[in-house]
Amino acid sequence: MYPYFYHYAPYEPDQSLLSDIVKAINGQYNAIACYEQLARMAKNVVERDRILEIRQDEIRHFQVFSQLYITLTGRQVYPHIIEKCPTDYKNGLQFALEDEQETVDFYLTVADKAHDSYIKESFRRAAADEQNHAVWFLYFYTKLCCDNT
Ligand SMILES: [Fe+2]
Ligand SMILES: [Fe+2]
Repeated sequence: MYPYFYHYAPYEPDQSLLSDIVKAINGQYNAIACYEQLARMAKNVVERDRILEIRQDEIRHFQVFSQLYITLTGRQVYPHIIEKCPTDYKNGLQFALEDEQETVDFYLTVADKAHDSYIKESFRRAAADEQNHAVWFLYFYTKLCCDNT
């Protein structure tokens, strides 16, 4: 964890790392909103509950990244919605599984760039969760295709 005095460090923290953290926070904020919609469209209770569990992971990631930002800057971050969520289940799943996979790459890149071991570990852990989410969404997407044909 970061020592307390970091708030009062006489230099600005790494700007590129900060903008990555802001991007991660907005991505999580978006996912939390989209997965709430997606859960409502789920084909059955099992899928709905799984999507809600995934959403809980995103809320946790959101909190971890927000806390990182506060620790590094001493400031609060104000997230905003950056993309619209698809309004039907099939497109929603496709959007989610692509987004999760891109997020895995992004988080691993941030983890590699970061010098601090807590930041590295936070992004690696989140990347592992996103990988797992991608597999679930791909599974639901595949089931949807084959159930319909
Ligand atoms: Fe996440
Ligand atoms: Fe995810």
